[in-house]
Amino acid sequence: MKEIRVSIHRGTPGNGFIQNYTVEASDGMSVMDVLKKIYMEQDQTLAYFSHEACHQKACGKCLIKLNGRVCLACGEPVKDDVLEIAPWKDDIVRDLICR
Ligand code: FES
Repeated sequence: MKEIRVSIHRGTPGNGFIQNYTVEASDGMSVMDVLKKIYMEQDQTLAYFSHEACHQKACGKCLIKLNGRVCLACGEPVKDDVLEIAPWKDDIVRDLICR
């Protein structure tokens, strides 16, 4: 277990803000696991794409920008102690959900 800091770019078009969270991360966690943990334990207002039947880089819908790089949240292992997570493109609906 290690404590990581997670900054998430949130909001709606024209009303963006950054929210910071601290998460206890364990070995083998994906960035999707981190988002789910935040949602389940800290903040159920966080909007992100989750496909319980996938979570294995199959559907391609959980795209995010992680530390400036576009990737699939479910296929991205947590490697750093600081994660900056943003929508993968500018056309957002809310938080990490894009059109
Ligand atoms: S949940 Fe399907 S690719 Fe990530």
